[in-house]
Amino acid sequence: MIITLSVIKADVGGYVGHSSSHPDVLERAEQSMADAKKRGLLVDYHVTRCGDDLQLIMTHRQGEDDERIHKLAWDTFLSCTEVAKALKLHGAGQDLLSDAFAGTIKGMGPGIAEMQFEEREAETIIIFMADKTASGAWNLPIYKIFADPFNTIGLVIASNMHGGFSFEIHDVKEHRKITFNAPEEIYDMLLFLGSPGRYAVKSVYHRETKEIAAVSSTQRLSLMAGRYVGKDDPVCVIRSQGQFPAVGEILEPFAAPHIVTGWMRGSHHGPLMPVAVNDSNPSRFDGPPRVIALGFQLSDGKLVGPRDMFDDLAFDEARHQANIMADFIRRLGPFEPHRLPLEEMEYTTMPEVMKRLVDRFEQL
Ligand code: F6R
Ligand code: MG
Ligand code: MG
Repeated sequence: MIITLSVIKADVGGYVGHSSSHPDVLERAEQSMADAKKRGLLVDYHVTRCGDDLQLIMTHRQGEDDERIHKLAWDTFLSCTEVAKALKLHGAGQDLLSDAFAGTIKGMGPGIAEMQFEEREAETIIIFMADKTASGAWNLPIYKIFADPFNTIGLVIASNMHGGFSFEIHDVKEHRKITFNAPEEIYDMLLFLGSPGRYAVKSVYHRETKEIAAVSSTQRLSLMAGRYVGKDDPVCVIRSQGQFPAVGEILEPFAAPHIVTGWMRGSHHGPLMPVAVNDSNPSRFDGPPRVIALGFQLSDGKLVGPRDMFDDLAFDEARHQANIMADFIRRLGPFEPHRLPLEEMEYTTMPEVMKRLVDRFEQL
C-alpha cells in the first residue's frame, strides 16, 4: 500500500511565553484532524507538541505536496491561532507569515517534512521534533545515523545496509541542491554538512533500493520572512529497521548532545537536549533546545503508537550532560560562541543598529 506521511508544524502561540503549548490549542487541532479523518481525507493522524510548536502528524493517500493536505494543515493552524488569540497566548499565529493560502504551505512559515512510500510488512517510523533550534540541527545526527559506522553498526555488519545511503543536501540560501553518496563521498559531503546554517540534509535514500529513508524540514523561517520571527524548530522523519537503521541506531546520536543554534531569541549556541514530550518545555534562558522522538508502527497507514522514545532512563546521562554544557556556555553571556556570529544575526537588530550608527563610523 502506498502511503504518504506528512508532518507539518507551526508555532501558533506559546504558553507561557515561548516555553510550551496550551492544551486548548492542542484540543482544537485534534478536532480539526479528527474531522478530516472522518471525511476520509486523512487515513490517520497524531497531534502533539514540542515546546511551543504544534505538530500535525498525518497519514493519507494524496501524495506529497497535496493542496488539500496543505490546506488542512493551514486551516488547522488558523483555527488554533483563534484559540491562542482568545487566550492571549504569546505570539499567537507567529509562524503564519501570510493570510492567503495559494496551493501549498511551503514558504508560508510552517515547517514541513513529507514522504511517500510503499508500506513494508512492518513499517517502523521515528519522528524527531525540535524546539528552539534551526533546520540544520539534524545534519550531525543524520550523518551519524546513515554514514558513521561508529554509530550505526548495521553499515558494517548488515548486508542490506552495507551499500550505504545517499544524501540530498539543500543550500538554503542559494536554493540549490546536491546529492552525495556515502561512504565514498563523505569527505566532500562533510565540508557542507559541517555548516548547518547554510547546508541542510533534506532527504536520505537507500542506495541499492532507492527507497526514501529520511526527510527533514529545511524551511528557514527568517529567510522566508526576511526578518527574525522565531526559530525554525525543525522536524525529521526516519524509516527504521530492515534495510534502514535500527531504532537504537537512529536514537543513538542523541545520547551525546551536540551544539545547535537557537535557544534564547534564536541567537545562541547551546546543547540539544533529548527529552520526553512532557519535558519539552524549554524554560531556562528559553531553552536549552529540546528534541523529542515519537515512534510508530504503520498498519495500512494507521499510526500505531506513539511510543515516546526519549522517555528512557538511558537518556538521563545525555540530559545531565546537556545541562552541564548549558551551564558552561551560558557563562559567556553575550559573547560568541554562545551568542551567534553577526552574519547569522542579520535578521535581528544589526541592520537597524548599523543604519543608526553608519554615519558615526570613520575610515581607519
Ligand atoms: C526562541 C524564542 C524565544 C523568544 C524570546 C523573545 O526561538 O522563541 O527565545 O525569542 O522569548 O520573545 P518575544 O520577542 O516574542 O518576546
Ligand atoms: Mg514561539
Ligand atoms: Mg518553537
